[in-house]
Amino acid sequence: MTIDLAPDQLLRWYIDAGIDACVGEEPVDRFAAPKPAPPPREAAPPPANRPAAPARAFAAPTEAPPPAPARESAGTAAHIAAECTTLEALRAALEAFDGLAMKRTAQSTVFADGNPEADVMVIGEAPGQDEDRQGLPFVGRSGKLLDRMLASIGLDRSTTYITNVVPWRPLENRKPSPDEVAVCMPFVARHIELVDPQLLILLGGASASALLARHEGIMRLRGRWFDYSSPGLPRPVPAMATYHPAYLLRTPAAKRDAWRDLLQVKKRLSGGA
Ligand code: URA
Repeated sequence: MTIDLAPDQLLRWYIDAGIDACVGEEPVDRFAAPKPAPPPREAAPPPANRPAAPARAFAAPTEAPPPAPARESAGTAAHIAAECTTLEALRAALEAFDGLAMKRTAQSTVFADGNPEADVMVIGEAPGQDEDRQGLPFVGRSGKLLDRMLASIGLDRSTTYITNVVPWRPLENRKPSPDEVAVCMPFVARHIELVDPQLLILLGGASASALLARHEGIMRLRGRWFDYSSPGLPRPVPAMATYHPAYLLRTPAAKRDAWRDLLQVKKRLSGGA
């Protein structure tokens, strides 16, 4: 039996099967390969008093330009995020944002799940493959454990709001780089402002150190209350960092500490300090 698929369908089939890199039959010695010719220099813009030449009707299709350097992208992100006054606008802005290469290899912009009116906002690191496919945070194995962790203190997705620092899947499930996190930070900061939660749960070192602006690792940051502040919030929000569920899946012995952290969250939610 043969199945005829158009090239784009075939590509989608490969991506769904988890194939995100291509290798040939034969190894290629890229050090021995001749250097590619430098890209053609961009044409200088026409002088202000001369109109630009009309676009050529049959110009060869051009690839999207590479994303801007991280610092520039972070500045752009800050401007864009500041203009968003609703969660829908923020989601649309992220979907239209073109400042990070990782977005081009991701299938979805994974924005959030749960209840935006909830008191508790949970922030992870970045989507994995399942999240990228479904467009929702924490739906894979880590997500199942997160659901059980939340249930252990009487919470679920109707009483929490769940998102990530980075909304696009880093290829091969690598950690997002500091530059990628820096570009996404204005968006996640605005996300917190728009939700205006009573309490934050930060999952894992990447989320904790980015949002608390601390250099210590998760082992030192977890289990302690921090105040998360930003100009658009009416007051500082208490934040508890704990282990990421993916780490707990690999290190079940750490679940005891995560349980203690969650008990502190439960106590605080029920009015205790
Ligand atoms: N890990 C995360 O940090 N976020 C997800 O959404 C899934 C796995």
